[in-house]
Amino acid sequence: MNDAKPDAPENDGKATPVTRRTLLVSLGALGGAGAMYAAMGALGLAPGEQRTNYTPPQPADFALSGRSAAKVVILGAGVAGLACAYELGKAGYDCTVLEAADRVGGRNLTIRGGDTLTETTGERQQATFGEGVYFNAGPARIAQWMVTLDYCRELGVPIEPFINGNASAYIYNTGMTAPVRFGAARADTYGYLSELLAKATSQGALDEAVPEADRQVLLDLLRQFGDLGEKLTYEGSVLRRGEDAPPPLREVLGYNLGPALTYDLTTEQAMPMFQPVGGMDTIVTALADTIGRDRITLSAAVTKITNLPDGVEITHQKGVTRAAYCVAALPPHLMAKIPGNLTPATLTQLRQAIPFSAGKIGLEYGRRWWELEDRIYGGITETDQEIARIWYPSHGFHTQRGLLLGYYNFAEQAESLARLKHPERLEKALTQGERIHGPKYRKDLLAGVSMAWDNRPHIEGAWVIGPGQPMGPDGRVYFAGDWLTHLIAWQAGAFESARQTVTTLHQRALKEG
Ligand code: PHE
Repeated sequence: MNDAKPDAPENDGKATPVTRRTLLVSLGALGGAGAMYAAMGALGLAPGEQRTNYTPPQPADFALSGRSAAKVVILGAGVAGLACAYELGKAGYDCTVLEAADRVGGRNLTIRGGDTLTETTGERQQATFGEGVYFNAGPARIAQWMVTLDYCRELGVPIEPFINGNASAYIYNTGMTAPVRFGAARADTYGYLSELLAKATSQGALDEAVPEADRQVLLDLLRQFGDLGEKLTYEGSVLRRGEDAPPPLREVLGYNLGPALTYDLTTEQAMPMFQPVGGMDTIVTALADTIGRDRITLSAAVTKITNLPDGVEITHQKGVTRAAYCVAALPPHLMAKIPGNLTPATLTQLRQAIPFSAGKIGLEYGRRWWELEDRIYGGITETDQEIARIWYPSHGFHTQRGLLLGYYNFAEQAESLARLKHPERLEKALTQGERIHGPKYRKDLLAGVSMAWDNRPHIEGAWVIGPGQPMGPDGRVYFAGDWLTHLIAWQAGAFESARQTVTTLHQRALKEG
């Protein structure tokens, strides 16, 4: 559990967001996910254990109160908004969901052949992927303890393993003559670290820190951990890295393996991880179908949010909707710009949520050369180039076509790609990917689609660094989203927040109607 408080979101709103942003952005760019995760942890935004004590509202709850389920208008058909409608629907609330885009899901976005993407800049792409090929442009992996899997179970969404690390994938940093298999790089890193520690132990440098009785145990551990020889030196072994002798320590330090060796030590990214079969949007499709498509109005961007003495009034592109309560599940930085009568205190809080950038590109190939030639079945290659990493697909093994993730980067790296047009992003992905995989990376390409979350209409960011704890309600307007939990940038955060908001709204509705 992490009960550290995030640095006060209710401060004057000047210095702190800049500090947060600067910190997260620079760490994200330098160290990728691992460093960003660490930064979020330092800010008190790291995840705690999954909350399990949730009871959905039920029709029977109204029996004692003598009231009937109220009408609720939900803003945003992303995971948080849909989860609110789904949970409230269990008790018979009359829910209406207003969605600005022409599809449900928000950031839970799976792109398939025939889909068109238009960015806020006007940049347009058309996906030409073949039958059955999909690109999870938003969320793509789920940890086993996350509530997202409970929703998959409840909604009948089948899941399959997501391979979040693979010893056969590569490490490739600038200056290296050739990519190195992650397994070999790890063996060398463990090996040299162990050799150094063993040396220090044998030479008495650790005598103060390690009592004599423990020293032999430590040496035995290091021998195994590092695969050390009789003389406690590291020479590599066939079992861990193959026939070749390991490169010298200097070269191994150049792999900069810190981030790649540690991300799967976080609770969020430990294996095994999972993905829905057939695409991440299977989750939002199931939610929307269960809620009832007739309750969801698409292309209905909200233009005004008004708290009334006994209800709410929402003006949007398709008309005006009145309800007893509202759950606003929109990105906070965009919500802050919507006219209406939310209080200045609420607007200040919304404005303090700082958007964070991430980008992805899906590359479709006519043959699965990464399996056929490189012998990589899922997992991630890490690189210090702008593309940051390549993800190999965790499904469809041995089929004809396949789609890999040609980049997934954050912060400044993602911001600069967002400023480019798609063909230029693709060219960068191919040039940098070729350095790792050779000419086939370009030659066998069928199609590519890139997602710059900064430029996604009605979303404008990959996620936001928000208060990390619930806020509101403001009058009859409640708030929901991953940014209000310790699970920012995870669907589990959106689900957690929805449960929390539904619970408080329901308690009030039982009292006040
Ligand atoms: N959940 C996202 C992912 O799987 C973003 C994220 C990355 C969140 C790293 C925390 C740490 O990549």
